[in-house]
Amino acid sequence: MTLAELIPSLRTSLPAHLSGQVWPSMAHRDDHGEISVGEVHLGELAEEFGTPTYVLDEADVRQRCREYATAFGPGNVVYAAKALTCRGLLRWIAEEGLSLGVHSAGQLATAAAVGFPADRIVLQGDAKSPIDLTAALEYGVGTIVIESSSEIPRLAALLTRRQRVLLRVLPDWDTGRVDTMSMLPAAPVTDRFGVPAAGTSLDEMVRRITDQPMLELVGLDFFLGSQTSRFGGYERAISHLVATMAALAQRHGTQLSEINIGGGHAVPGTDTDGQFALEAFASRARKVLRVACDEHNLPVPRLGVAPGRAIVARAGVALYRVLAVRRDPDGHQLVAVDGGLSDNPRPALYGARYTAVLLGRLSRAQEQRTTVVGRHDESGDVLVQDAPLPGDLRAGDLLAIPCSGAYQLSLASNYNLVPRPPLVAVNAGRAQVLVRGETVEDVLARDLDPAAPPAVATAGPTGGR
Ligand SMILES: Cc1ncc(COP(=O)(O)O)c(C=O)c1O
Repeated sequence: MTLAELIPSLRTSLPAHLSGQVWPSMAHRDDHGEISVGEVHLGELAEEFGTPTYVLDEADVRQRCREYATAFGPGNVVYAAKALTCRGLLRWIAEEGLSLGVHSAGQLATAAAVGFPADRIVLQGDAKSPIDLTAALEYGVGTIVIESSSEIPRLAALLTRRQRVLLRVLPDWDTGRVDTMSMLPAAPVTDRFGVPAAGTSLDEMVRRITDQPMLELVGLDFFLGSQTSRFGGYERAISHLVATMAALAQRHGTQLSEINIGGGHAVPGTDTDGQFALEAFASRARKVLRVACDEHNLPVPRLGVAPGRAIVARAGVALYRVLAVRRDPDGHQLVAVDGGLSDNPRPALYGARYTAVLLGRLSRAQEQRTTVVGRHDESGDVLVQDAPLPGDLRAGDLLAIPCSGAYQLSLASNYNLVPRPPLVAVNAGRAQVLVRGETVEDVLARDLDPAAPPAVATAGPTGGR
């Protein structure tokens, strides 16, 4: 126990260790309360680009890619673009040798813009539109995941060359999924597409795929859910997928050579959340795979994973400015910032938890239980609950929320017609805008009021970012 824990009045917000659990691994806090990421001061970024701003540490993203590449082999790691997509980021992912999982023609266009190798792209999604399918075939993506029987003839009708496909399998076994952190259940099986691993529908799907001469069924694909911190569900999935492969080989003579067990690897939002032990997971997964294959007398298939959050979440930091503060008699502090639900809907969507720190000044005030709310006056617009922040926060202060790289900007909206923030990459002392911040003009440009004069002139507070 520390002295500060024994005597709470000693607890101030003087510089403390930045936990590598939630911050980019090389983030650093100096004696003046300034935090640097990628050797760039976050306070300077807030001055230059305004707030809210999202910062992304290139070195941290690359390091996570390398950890996954070492654990599974680069070609077996499919970065899930839904976590965060932009050209700059996809260039890093391509350079690190990872594959890419896309859900839409928009993500494909972004990948194409950086020349992402087509054979390393996987198109997924339970409702692929004709536009998505056509774009994928035009670009020549390596793999398409089939998730419903209706897409088999639709896809086959568009093909002019043989296409590798994986079949999405749904668990019909107890996945043993136990989360230690923010609840993020996978949708119940009844609400998801894919085919139950046992039963006649699987045989029927396989028969329909193999009946199409232009479709080459190479393996099975699986997704457990997000923020999963235990291995048990994946291990059961591997055993069941191998048993399914053995059954398909016996019943149809179908030889499959790949399984992908998806992503969902938990990333802590706060220091007290547990960690997902990647190396241990990879060696357990390989062992379970080998044992299952031996049992069924099958050659060991290629083992793929599809992480999104685990690659980008910790590289991201969100910067906000405090606009209003209220201190209650019970010691609780309420702080409103200049962003919220519109740039980070995760707390409202599924109770995601975060922490926050004061940037740019030192405070000797005692820490107070602080709730950080957004600007949207919604009951769910709470960015951080119970953050231990100094009790003298005031309007104008800067707050940084770590672990903000995944499913924040990619889920951002223009709610209340608030422009979406920029994404700024930092690396070795340099900052570079990856996605510029929207302006009020951008937001208004889509509003085609028939009665409005042809040119709409507005000046927005976020103009120019
Ligand atoms: C099919 C599929 N694969 C991979 C992922 C990535 O999940 P995560 O970002 O939690 O790793 C998702 C996320 O929803 C998904 O739907």
